[in-house]
Amino acid sequence: MSDSFDIIVLGGGPGGYIAAIRAAQLGAKVALVEKDKIGGTCLNRGCIPTKALIACTSLYEKSLNAEKYGVHMSSVSINLGEVIDRKNRIIEKLVKNTEFLATKNNIEIFHGAGKVLEAGKVEIENADGKKSIIECKKLILATGSSPACIPGMTFDGQNFLSSDDILDNREPLKKLDIVGGGVIGIHFAQIYGSIGCEVTIYEALPEILPGVDEEIVNLVKRALKKRNVNVLTGAKFESALSCGKTLICVGRVPNTTGIEALSLKMDKRSVWVNEKMETSVPNAYAVGDLVSRKMLAHVAYEQGVIAAENALGASRSFSYDCVPFGIYTNPEIGSVGLTEKEAREKYKDIKIGKFPFGALGIAQAVGEIEGTIKVIAGSDGKLLGIHILGSEATTLIGAATLAVKNKLSVEELAETFQAHPTFSEGLQEAAEAALKRALHILN
Ligand code: NAI
Repeated sequence: MSDSFDIIVLGGGPGGYIAAIRAAQLGAKVALVEKDKIGGTCLNRGCIPTKALIACTSLYEKSLNAEKYGVHMSSVSINLGEVIDRKNRIIEKLVKNTEFLATKNNIEIFHGAGKVLEAGKVEIENADGKKSIIECKKLILATGSSPACIPGMTFDGQNFLSSDDILDNREPLKKLDIVGGGVIGIHFAQIYGSIGCEVTIYEALPEILPGVDEEIVNLVKRALKKRNVNVLTGAKFESALSCGKTLICVGRVPNTTGIEALSLKMDKRSVWVNEKMETSVPNAYAVGDLVSRKMLAHVAYEQGVIAAENALGASRSFSYDCVPFGIYTNPEIGSVGLTEKEAREKYKDIKIGKFPFGALGIAQAVGEIEGTIKVIAGSDGKLLGIHILGSEATTLIGAATLAVKNKLSVEELAETFQAHPTFSEGLQEAAEAALKRALHILN
């Protein structure tokens, strides 16, 4: 007889392992099926490894400028092989921690490729080709996504690289062409540009970073230019133009292998779900990159929690309103809510307040003066969006999200006085600027 569970979660990335943990916390008997390593794209091939590389290249870049701080170094160099080794150690530790967490929550982890036979039945094939079948009352699909490629430019790990391939590149590159000016392309442009590689980004659309506030995009382009990054927009990449390496980051495709038997309703290449994360098949839920309009780990986390709770009797809904995001350029980007263009299209009158990082005491003290904070509010004063380019923007966006999500007014943000000296003061000052009463700039 096959093992039987309350819930089987297929895929151990941020959507899947979080769904499994929440279901286990609620007392369910849970199985988590993963063919590769627990942690999925985010932990093994995405957010964490990229951030680990950026930590090294930023430190290198900062060290090159150490003399400005009165710090003298006899020589500064970067060893990409050691950078990759450090990244791999971090991943290994976090994967172990996540597995430990799952196991301590009494989740049974099955290492192998899962194939759904029907909503309540999953076949698992392990690395030795051995097959077993497990059963469940409710199924949560969290199989993630993979890098998309361009026809005729198959990933070969040599000339045409995916974001997975380049994460393990140990050799310094003189030249790198990047196809796609989305978040992934910009991250690698940042990494390689800051260590002296000549980078060219080819973006088919008129602008890079689709969905990011236009003013912030212009500031990012300026920052990239300073780091040897050449940005070509309106440039559809159809064939390799150089004999160097080409990194292709033109989006990601949901992984639907293994779930075909369910004949799920689709939304283009994604699995269709309603706001309760239910698929078109009873007792089958889906979360994360497999379904998402926004392929972000924190969206997957939240959808995983909601799917698990709903599978066990709750009735929660997921909303794409007010999803924050952070991009690890130098300086960083943090963003939540409507961009200026979206706010102008939706509402007739809006208020905008901006505050430059250079006017903050802390920014001058630590030498991080590049950037700006922009607060957007409706004519009724309710906050609609906050966009930041500058040091610690990916952390500052947390406070901004609290304000925008809870529909605070620009006055309430202006009256929330912040600790000094911190970058958070910029949030308060930008709100003050929207009310034409900023204190450290002329209004
Ligand atoms: P993306 O969809 O964000 O950007 C891909 C870009 O490639 C688009 O601007 C598109 O116009 C362009 N493009 C497509 N075909 C092209 C061609 N032949 N020539 C030139 N340009 C072409 O995809 P990306 O950057 O691969 O990221 C995938 C997903 O991962 C996104 O949903 C992204 O939001 C998410 N992600 C988010 C992160 C974050 O928020 N920190 C970090 C990493 C990924």
